[in-house]
Amino acid sequence: MAEANRQIVLDQLPQGAKLGPEHFRLSESEVPQPGEGEILLRTRYISLDAANRAWMQGATYRAALSSGQVMAGGALAEVVVSNAAHLKPGDLVFADTGWQDYAVLPAKRLQKLPDMAPVTHLMSVYGIAGLTAYFGLLECGQPKPGETVVVSAAAGSVGSIVGQIAKLKGCRVIGVAGGAEKGRWLVEELGFDAVLDYKAGGLRQQMKEAVPEGIDVYFDNTGGEIFETCLFAMKNFGRIACCGAVSQYDGAPPPHGPRGIPGLIVTKRLTLRGFVVMDFDAQREKALADLQAWVASGQLKVQEDIIDGLENTPAALIGLLAGENRGKRMIRV
Ligand SMILES: NC(=O)c1ccc[n+]([C@@H]2O[C@H](COP(=O)([O-])OP(=O)(O)OC[C@H]3O[C@@H](n4cnc5c(N)ncnc54)[C@H](OP(=O)(O)O)[C@@H]3O)[C@@H](O)[C@H]2O)c1
Repeated sequence: MAEANRQIVLDQLPQGAKLGPEHFRLSESEVPQPGEGEILLRTRYISLDAANRAWMQGATYRAALSSGQVMAGGALAEVVVSNAAHLKPGDLVFADTGWQDYAVLPAKRLQKLPDMAPVTHLMSVYGIAGLTAYFGLLECGQPKPGETVVVSAAAGSVGSIVGQIAKLKGCRVIGVAGGAEKGRWLVEELGFDAVLDYKAGGLRQQMKEAVPEGIDVYFDNTGGEIFETCLFAMKNFGRIACCGAVSQYDGAPPPHGPRGIPGLIVTKRLTLRGFVVMDFDAQREKALADLQAWVASGQLKVQEDIIDGLENTPAALIGLLAGENRGKRMIRV
């Protein structure tokens, strides 16, 4: 075992500024020792999520982060020392370890993950990203064959899976993503019908041309202007699955909310449903079985973006917020 525990500390909250390397520092402490009912974990892959940034803004479904704490985050981690019967050294778990080499956590919160190759799929398609895409689209969006589905942050970890599941369900799929290169990849490799480049400007016109008949289901990862554009393009009785608001996590608060609320919700008889992936824990097994079958048949392609080195975690999150990633970004520790 290594002598020291390297930790990335959230040195100061960004306070309305864009997240930068100056908000983090690398520090070292002793490797912690597990007590009764506790487990010592070694992090192997740290998950990078837009939500990491949202937690810095205030309380969400978890408490707000504060300056001076080890940066919070989920990781695929290996049991090193176990003081519980249901886990043994070498077992893999998904745990809220934070950005560090080692963490001690209560055993009762941890569950052994199945053996799998590659193990990284446990963090992408069979982890939070895959389950969020599955439940958000199928439970909240309720897409039907022949309908038009639009998804934002379409080349990201959640969005790239949403679009592929919608295609599997017989829908016409339009992505919204930054840059022509991402658009080409989504159409040519993942089978999207079209992708709109919100960074090129004129999104409302692009939307009109791509979906002249209107949107049945909008899977919203971004909020902001993309949300507003889709709201105006919704068909009557359309459904919006509100998954996240990545356009509003990094930097100053947005100047105003989207126009069209509540007027368009009324006149178009829209259903907006917010959700958090944990809401659907009871249906997890069925979702995982479906996702596994689609991956095995080649109908669902898994895109992972793996970066080496704990010390690169801050830059990897800053880059994710700037749109560097394709698919699920993670750090190999
Ligand atoms: N509700 C839930 O349970 C749940 C669970 C997991 C994730 N989420 C949400 O899902 C969304 C995706 O998160 P993720 O962690 O999977 O990240 P991700 O999609 O892998 O990466 C984030 C992507 O967002 C795009 N983006 C960044 N700033 C943007 C802006 N201002 N406008 C439009 N797009 C922007 C970037 O791509 P471009 O190049 O296209 O800009 C970037 O690649 C987030 O909103 C997150 O909060 C929700």
